[in-house]
Amino acid sequence: MDATIDIGLARADEASAIAVHSRDLVEHGLDWRWKPGRLRRAIAARDTNVAVARHDGRLAGFGVMQYFDEEAHLCLLAVLPAWQRRGIGAALVGWLETAALEAGIGVIRLEARRRNAVARAFYRRLGYDEVTLSTGYYAPDEDAVRLAKDLWLAPPG
Ligand SMILES: CC(C)(COP(=O)(O)OP(=O)(O)OC[C@H]1O[C@@H](n2cnc3c(N)ncnc32)[C@H](O)[C@@H]1OP(=O)(O)O)[C@@H](O)C(=O)NCCC(=O)NCCS
Repeated sequence: MDATIDIGLARADEASAIAVHSRDLVEHGLDWRWKPGRLRRAIAARDTNVAVARHDGRLAGFGVMQYFDEEAHLCLLAVLPAWQRRGIGAALVGWLETAALEAGIGVIRLEARRRNAVARAFYRRLGYDEVTLSTGYYAPDEDAVRLAKDLWLAPPG
């Protein structure tokens, strides 16, 4: 990944930008669920990490992971178009996976749109297995694939 990219926890004042990019890059065509208030709560929550990738202090990508007792859920992930395909998405997931392992959590789960071939290729490349298809998960005509990764078997790269 580009050495000028830093990954760390999001600040509260980044919630609005993350929310708008989520609406445009991830939730397009669906109801907007990750609004600024929800992002601000996630940034403040003890059971959730909102990680951001920054270039010169400006947002390049973000990922949200919620941690439970034995599993974690990757709720949101996007890299801004100008920054895609430079390893930032993989680095964000690796950062969040490392935090999960440090908390003793070995399994990560997530959903992706069945039609999102890029995301499915990306997660497969990172060692995620497609476990089930969930018909109408996002909307009546928008199915999800559920994916999972066992970090004990495939640690963050
Ligand atoms: C999916 C997404 C987060 C990937 O982020 P990224 O920073 O571009 O991905 P990386 O550069 O880390 O890619 C890692 C690997 O994933 C795969 N990959 C990434 N983008 C790909 C694409 N467009 N086509 C095919 N494979 C792709 C490749 O194997 C890539 O490795 P390589 O570049 O060495 O071939 C990004 O495309 C994105 O934000 N998309 C829009 C939002 C979205 O779909 N989010 C996921 C919702 S579940």
